[in-house]
Amino acid sequence: MDRKSIHSSLDYVELREFFIEDRLEKYRLEAECNLGESGIRNFSLGELLRKINLSPKDLESISLADSANQGSIGLRREIASLYGNSISEENVLVTTGTSEALFLFFQIFVKKQARISLFTPAFQALYEVPQSVGAIIYPVDVVESQLDIDALWTHDPDLVIINHPHNPTGKSLSDSDWNRLEENIENHKAIVLFDEHYRFLDFHEDLTPTGADLGKNCFATGSITKCFGVVGLKIGWIVGEKSFIDKARSFKDYLTHTVNPISEFLCEQILIHRKKLIDPIKKSVLSNIEYFQKHLAKIPGVLDFQAPDGGLVGFIKLEPGIMSESYCDDLYKDTSVFLLPGANFEKEGYVRIGFGESEDRFRDGINRWIRWEKYFSR
Ligand SMILES: Cc1ncc(COP(=O)(O)O)c(C=O)c1O
Repeated sequence: MDRKSIHSSLDYVELREFFIEDRLEKYRLEAECNLGESGIRNFSLGELLRKINLSPKDLESISLADSANQGSIGLRREIASLYGNSISEENVLVTTGTSEALFLFFQIFVKKQARISLFTPAFQALYEVPQSVGAIIYPVDVVESQLDIDALWTHDPDLVIINHPHNPTGKSLSDSDWNRLEENIENHKAIVLFDEHYRFLDFHEDLTPTGADLGKNCFATGSITKCFGVVGLKIGWIVGEKSFIDKARSFKDYLTHTVNPISEFLCEQILIHRKKLIDPIKKSVLSNIEYFQKHLAKIPGVLDFQAPDGGLVGFIKLEPGIMSESYCDDLYKDTSVFLLPGANFEKEGYVRIGFGESEDRFRDGINRWIRWEKYFSR
């Protein structure tokens, strides 16, 4: 094929910049109180090893050869055990972050003019990547209303994307939402993708329920990185029916091909020890949410806040007329407290807060933010 024919066969919209990543890259390493993250404060390798009863010596025998393209059998088994009986290791593809899993999924399922509905505001990759291959996006707002499951099926979608617990609002699906979901899945042909990045941070149960088991046309992505404070390990996964997993595995050969074997080993160990690891994390996240709610009324410029049902983040409504980017810029400049503006989620009038910072730093951040009153009213 000559160059011209390759180009004439393409028809896509360019990806825009990834708004939140751009801002995180600028500030996250310098901020004294980073309340902008969607993960918990990350552990050092030494801390992690101690928590899972390993020593640095245990890492010495890891082969630095390529891992299996689909992911090691041990890790895939651990991942499969997080789902119901319909998911075995054959239904799991290990990827470099869930971003890669999402990218593969969209490459395979999204065609030009495909109709896609999802809750918004949303993690940008969930709509930006499909849009870039020509999909039509039907957003269903979740900030100013409850999760409306039926609304996702209004436009006869080819694909429905459900991120729960939801980033950035922290909203989760209730029992009646799950019932509505099951009915819609049964009665329509749409494929459903569940982004379950924050599944390990259910505030009542061991795990948030998964949509992966709801039928052959249901798929789910997952990860340990944000909930367990190991974002640098960059391991994610997708589960679904075997023919899709085989195809996605083959597409992955054009991207990262295999994951890092050290990350893969550590990810398996984290899953083996996940219950012991997650309990203190849940406690600390809940304590941060409680502290924030207790002091909410003293924070300048904030109008309203609904605590997250699960996960690590919440969306705070600002007083009318405040622009989220200048609010976050000024707060950072004056206090070194870092938040994400709603504008980065294409939703003005809000800021996103992360509850994953260590309790002492989180409280310090909230206290600085409260004391900011004197700057805010100047
Ligand atoms: C809802 C959601 N999905 C997917 C991702 C991508 O995660 P990863 O870092 O595993 O690529 C993120 C990251 O913040 C997220 O919040």
